[in-house]
Amino acid sequence: MNGQRSGKQPSADAPLGVFDSGLGGLTVVHALRDHCPNEDIIYLGDNARVPYGTRSPDTVIRYALTCAHELADRGVKALVVACNTVSSVALDELRAQLDLPITGVIVPGARAAVDASGGHRIGVLGTVGTITSGAYTRAVASLSGRAEVIGQAAPLLVALAEEGWMSGEVPELVVKRYLDPFFGPEDVPGMPRRADVGCVVLGCTHFPLFRELIVHQMRELGGRGIPVVDSAIQTALDVRAFLHDSGLGNSQATSGTLQLLVTDMPASFEEVAGRFLGAALGRVEQVDLGKPTAG
Ligand code: DGL
Repeated sequence: MNGQRSGKQPSADAPLGVFDSGLGGLTVVHALRDHCPNEDIIYLGDNARVPYGTRSPDTVIRYALTCAHELADRGVKALVVACNTVSSVALDELRAQLDLPITGVIVPGARAAVDASGGHRIGVLGTVGTITSGAYTRAVASLSGRAEVIGQAAPLLVALAEEGWMSGEVPELVVKRYLDPFFGPEDVPGMPRRADVGCVVLGCTHFPLFRELIVHQMRELGGRGIPVVDSAIQTALDVRAFLHDSGLGNSQATSGTLQLLVTDMPASFEEVAGRFLGAALGRVEQVDLGKPTAG
């Protein structure tokens, strides 16, 4: 987490701000609630403008800034960017414009991947924006000189997750198709497998929703036992360490609260989010992030 700030120290009692382009960032909220249970959280899902993953870096930066400013205006003490696409292209600009500690999900995910890959190649599933940015390749290279990243854009999984369509024939076929480049057919003597990855990274916050399906299809493709890495847990652990080291951890004895904000369709968000977080949620509130940003 980048804690370099020039302004006054935020209050430890203040909430954490978490944002994503939609509901996928709830995977990070889930992990934060497990690992930082006393923290109050304000989550913002910009579902009016999802997906971010097919948009240009400039547009993603513009959208991300409006989300970050909305949460900063609500007095958060730190920002967790629970979106791989934003973390891939917008962190520098967010850090330049906001006087808050900010963490993204790429570096924590890359660290978990290097640990899990056993020195083999690392397969990354992500949005088009994340894969073409090369952010995972750079993050992995900065951690391990020898690990190689194979990226596969998997945009249809975002649409399926936003629809709440996480099982059945269609998601199965889509997952299989996207995983295919990571696994060759059964080893043919003298022929290299297509990629032979040592782990697969869910490099998009929506993809942990398909974890079971992904593990199942990996088995079908000959990838039994290969670890599936998602950055949510590692990100939550990084946030916990940062809060502890900076004295910003909330010391309240009770469980933290969760406030949910969206930019469109609160009722359908509430339904899918409730199913995913497995807990009764408070009312989801709709916010307007401002006029000049619509793209
Ligand atoms: N949250 C995005 C990510 O993690 C996926 C959804 C989108 O494309 O906006 O990359």
